Amino acid sequence: MHVLLTGGCGYIGTLLTARLLEEGHKVTVVDIMWFGNYLPKNKNLTVIKEDIRNISNIPMDGVDTVIHLANVANDPCGELNSKLAWEVNVLATMQLVEKAIQNKVKLFIYASSGSVYGVKEEAEVTEDLSLVPISDYNKTKMISERVLLSYKDLINILCVRPATVCGYSPRMRLDLSVNMLTFQALSRKKITVFGGSQTRPNIHIKDMVEVYMHFFKKREELEGIYNAGFENISIMDIAEEVAKIVPAEIIVTESNDPRSYNLSSNKLLATGFSPKYSVLDGIKDVIEAYRDGKIKDEENCYNIKTMEKLKNLC
Ligand SMILES: NC(=O)c1ccc[n+]([C@@H]2O[C@H](COP(=O)([O-])OP(=O)(O)OC[C@H]3O[C@@H](n4cnc5c(N)ncnc54)[C@H](O)[C@@H]3O)[C@@H](O)[C@H]2O)c1
Repeated sequence: MHVLLTGGCGYIGTLLTARLLEEGHKVTVVDIMWFGNYLPKNKNLTVIKEDIRNISNIPMDGVDTVIHLANVANDPCGELNSKLAWEVNVLATMQLVEKAIQNKVKLFIYASSGSVYGVKEEAEVTEDLSLVPISDYNKTKMISERVLLSYKDLINILCVRPATVCGYSPRMRLDLSVNMLTFQALSRKKITVFGGSQTRPNIHIKDMVEVYMHFFKKREELEGIYNAGFENISIMDIAEEVAKIVPAEIIVTESNDPRSYNLSSNKLLATGFSPKYSVLDGIKDVIEAYRDGKIKDEENCYNIKTMEKLKNLC
């Protein structure tokens, strides 16, 4: 099959590209490369440095599936330039799905976010609950889902609402909770926890990649929205888990981010998917990669630091 993968140079995209290639698929990555490009060359891989907003430059000929990960990918970056976030996350998503339909692409998989739920009291947050997105980032994800689903009679749409991802990728993100807390313990012997009591779901990056592979393989059997997150734990629990392996002082400061929810992925599990990794595996991966010298405290490991430096984004 031929997959068009937007955001294929990102944290998740880098590993997803490798998995698709490993299974013998042809992959075209379109990525603006804000955080660099760590994809090794491969005869079945074409990498195009392009902004997805330039829809006429996105090749769709012969593509069977679009996996769409390229977004302004967290709350602070959405706040930094909300016009950019709305253009990339919503407008470009609409243009992509329209072009996919014109080109008779069969399946469109979108990386939404579990953060669309906002603050939820329910013991189990399932896909049918109302959404209370708080930030621009969360709102763009909610609206993109709705835009995409409005095309569902013309193309099969799958929207994934992932938990916070953890673990190592060659394009490393140190702004994600498990990765960040583990890295702080390793590099400073101190862990700073904002708030700490908020419960958030997590997913290991290898399971995240397999979720996309699962939907890619199931193709027309499934449609609609799926949560993807397996361990609902507080930030403080993560910090304590890290400190058990890498001794570090835990410092608690106030948080201005009230998002807290227990994600249920029973709908995904019922399709035959089962996760293989845990938060603990994510912590151990980061430790191992750090000790092997694969993780450095570089600007491009923090989306907001990189985006603040980029000029002329709009
Ligand atoms: N990492 C997580 O914990 C998490 C959780 C929930 C949802 N998601 C979603 O999954 C997707 C991938 O996340 P990630 O962690 O790999 O993020 P990432 O920032 O590492 O990757 C996003 C990639 O998209 C590219 N990109 C952004 N805007 C673009 C544009 N206009 N044109 C072309 N390329 C563009 C970036 O250069 C980057 O390589 C995102 O949509 C994100 O919102 C991630």
